[in-house]
Amino acid sequence: MLRGSKVGLRARHEDDIPILRAELYDDVVNSSRADSRPWRPITPGSKDPRLVVDDSEQGRVPFSVVELDGGALVGTATLWGIDNHNRSAHIGLGLLPSSRGKGYGTDVVAVLCHYGFVVRGLQRLQIETLSDNAAMLRSAERNGFVREGVLRSSAWVMGEFLDEVLLGLLVQDWKPDVNQRDTTQVVS
Ligand SMILES: CC(C)(COP(=O)(O)OP(=O)(O)OC[C@H]1O[C@@H](n2cnc3c(N)ncnc32)[C@H](O)[C@@H]1OP(=O)(O)O)[C@@H](O)C(=O)NCCC(=O)NCCS
Repeated sequence: MLRGSKVGLRARHEDDIPILRAELYDDVVNSSRADSRPWRPITPGSKDPRLVVDDSEQGRVPFSVVELDGGALVGTATLWGIDNHNRSAHIGLGLLPSSRGKGYGTDVVAVLCHYGFVVRGLQRLQIETLSDNAAMLRSAERNGFVREGVLRSSAWVMGEFLDEVLLGLLVQDWKPDVNQRDTTQVVS
């Protein structure tokens, strides 16, 4: 598991799937805001890639996010679009509604930066989020991401086009939290 100060990022377990489906992906509005693809239901037992991890997929690494204190599942985190030539990737995350606003999102971004920069040797990480997603923008900026531009009317969300903000962080500008760097460890 990769450990931050409040949360851990571990492999997807079978038990996580019904919780993530019910509390995260079946919420049409949240899913439509967080995913650039159109919402559609996930059939129980299906191998939908939003929930079921394909370990052979090289360009995408999904994690389940758990509380360090007690191990409860609180959401998902993904390093996706991994480009080993340009050494870049994108970050995505989604927390269960009851776990938002507790500092977990900021911590998840920190752990994904450690994974991207240290474990994977990447040089650039990128986040795209809706321009009104204050919590995501703040979680990114608290970790050193800077706003690089606005993608005007780039997202069709529940009946309207919305702007997205593109944020980037380069490894040389990354200032990892000392506690996190020292405690991060990898186990299965
Ligand atoms: C976006 C998300 C990951 C952020 O994680 P979080 O745990 O809620 O955020 P944090 O508690 O770490 O808060 C980060 C900052 O945003 C602020 N914040 C949190 N919720 C906020 C809200 N609803 N409005 C404004 N600011 C908010 C916090 O005060 C904090 O600011 P601070 O560092 O100055 O104190 C989480 O809210 C979420 O999963 N939302 C739904 C899915 C989603 O939008 N995913 C991102 C798609 S790109």
